Amino acid sequence: IEKTFSIIKPNSTLDNNIGNIIAHFEKNGLRIAGAKFAKLSKEKAEGFYIEHKERPFFGELVNFMTSGPVMLMVLEGENAVMKNRELMGATNPANAAEGTIRKLYAKSVGENSVHGSDSATAAEREIAYFFERSELTNRF
Ligand code: GTP
Ligand code: MG
Repeated sequence: IEKTFSIIKPNSTLDNNIGNIIAHFEKNGLRIAGAKFAKLSKEKAEGFYIEHKERPFFGELVNFMTSGPVMLMVLEGENAVMKNRELMGATNPANAAEGTIRKLYAKSVGENSVHGSDSATAAEREIAYFFERSELTNRF
């Protein structure tokens, strides 16, 4: 069964939307296979977003992601990577489809409520960046 990596970002932990966002995943075929509530260090956040290092918003992104607690999750389900991206909606909530997580809960392109791996390769790297194998369930 496919796994993907998800982060509930600081705007949504602050707004008490953790439960709403997890409910959205659970109602739509994704199941939690691992989870941690954490505050990221600057170094950990920079390493996670290393591919965006040269982008003009990199500093802002790292500041935001370390501004408050995040919920780090491994989600599993059929087609989990693409399913999660669909449920999240477009990066900018102004362009996100009705009923998506970003349409419902995001504030702006920066404070956009959730992260989700964009490929199976990315998911593998991102899961390994935050979780030990022993911290994940293995139901299947
Ligand atoms: P992720 O699932 O978070 O990777 O989102 P994405 O794949 O839809 O977007 P992308 O990988 O292009 O950008 C990564 C993250 O950088 C986004 O989720 C935003 O939080 C942030 N970001 C992207 N563009 C901007 C921007 O113009 N300004 C700011 N402040 N942040 C941005
Ligand atoms: Mg991305």
